[in-house]
Amino acid sequence: MLEAGQILQQRYQLQRKLGQNAGRQTWLAEDLATQPARLAIVKLLAFGDRLQWEDLKLFEREANVLKQLNHPRIPKYCDYFSIDDRILWFALVQEFIPGSSLKELINQGQKFSEQQVRKYATEVLEILDYLHSLLPPVLHRDIKPSNLILGEDNQIYVVDFGAVQNKASSQGGTFTVVGTYGYTPVEQFGGRAVPASDLYALGASLIHLVTGVAPADLPQRNMRIQFSDRTNLSPQLVRWLETMTHPDVEQRFHSAAQALEALNSCLVTSRSFLISQPYGSRIQLQKTATQLQIKIPARGLQFSDSFLIFFVSFWYGILFLVSRGNIFHSFIVFHWLAGLFPLVMLLFPAFGEVFINFHPHDFFLEWKLFGKTYRVKQGDTAAICKVYISTEPISINNDPLKTITIEAGVKKYKFGSFSPELTDAERQWLVREIQQWLGLGQTEI
Ligand SMILES: Nc1ncnc2c1ncn2[C@@H]1O[C@H](COP(=O)(O)OP(=O)(O)O)[C@@H](O)[C@H]1O
Ligand SMILES: [Mg+2]
Repeated sequence: MLEAGQILQQRYQLQRKLGQNAGRQTWLAEDLATQPARLAIVKLLAFGDRLQWEDLKLFEREANVLKQLNHPRIPKYCDYFSIDDRILWFALVQEFIPGSSLKELINQGQKFSEQQVRKYATEVLEILDYLHSLLPPVLHRDIKPSNLILGEDNQIYVVDFGAVQNKASSQGGTFTVVGTYGYTPVEQFGGRAVPASDLYALGASLIHLVTGVAPADLPQRNMRIQFSDRTNLSPQLVRWLETMTHPDVEQRFHSAAQALEALNSCLVTSRSFLISQPYGSRIQLQKTATQLQIKIPARGLQFSDSFLIFFVSFWYGILFLVSRGNIFHSFIVFHWLAGLFPLVMLLFPAFGEVFINFHPHDFFLEWKLFGKTYRVKQGDTAAICKVYISTEPISINNDPLKTITIEAGVKKYKFGSFSPELTDAERQWLVREIQQWLGLGQTEI
């Protein structure tokens, strides 16, 4: 049996057991060959009846991969040997990182601020970017709070390369299913881990950090972890975490670099980014982490409409008189058409309403006249790349028509020009609110 005080290879004196799993132990040890004696981590695998060849393969892979890695926030490989202590042990020695694992901090009941979560996320993504950019890419496959260490220098380190995969792909042949329930995305259970699988595990670990609840114990809907009501994170960070933990690998960030960029762009949102709602504006806006609802209500008739009201009543009055005999049929139709345009110009700006609803997955635009929906458009929220004010090639009373344009992929969605109309100040305010909610960078408006 291995116990504290024991010296392995006449060099590593075991101090304290940090972890134990079937046939596997992790020890804090003192390296007596260094002056003064330095601390090291010794991971041991017992070679016995219960040992599966698969375990030994993974253990040797851990040693080999660690030997090749060179990153300031990954423990350095030191040694690999076997010892015969009634049973045969394989031992991997690596640099000790002083600090506490995020799991220990969660268990101590520590709360984490949005700023801390962003900092940890950035630091782990930098390490993942390093690992995934190697040739062939190295996939960690077991990112979780117990394998992330907050060092005494307040930086995050990634440890435990015991599940690592360094082949281009494990498609075909046999594959090893590794990972931890709750942190592992579904494609990895199918033996098809990709770089985005590590992103899922990081997202789930951060969700554990902010909610204090292990992701496996959080409710799920459509395979998505439901966590937003248990935190007071900004909507952008919630959306970012949702993208990290999307069950469909295609909908997740594709790379650590892309996830980093998205995280940094939602950092742009400072107080000065937002504009307050223009005085007198009747637009209703409600935002939560999971939805942004905008209602542009009908403005009603105004004094400026009096000419149109007069014109439309006059025109339809004449038509009424003329059509009494019902003889000038084509004549009436022609004049009815000529009256339609002023009628539209009168009714839509005065009584039209528009509702814009953004959800994490999709968004809707709905136009109504006298409470009746006459037009609906739906789009994919993740595809939105730009929101801005555009000038249309049409003018009304010599004023070029302006709209708010939402660009999602190749599609453009426009509102706020005429039915109902908005003021310039309202458009600018709405564009900023939408950009902020979506976590888009600030653009010229
Ligand atoms: N290099 C290291 N420096 C500091 N602590 C470590 C290091 N490696 C592991 N640990 C601690 O020991 C625990 C178990 O080690 P780990 O490598 O994760 O083993 P296992 O494969 O059994 O999960 C980790 O959760 C971490 O707290
Ligand atoms: Mg571990």
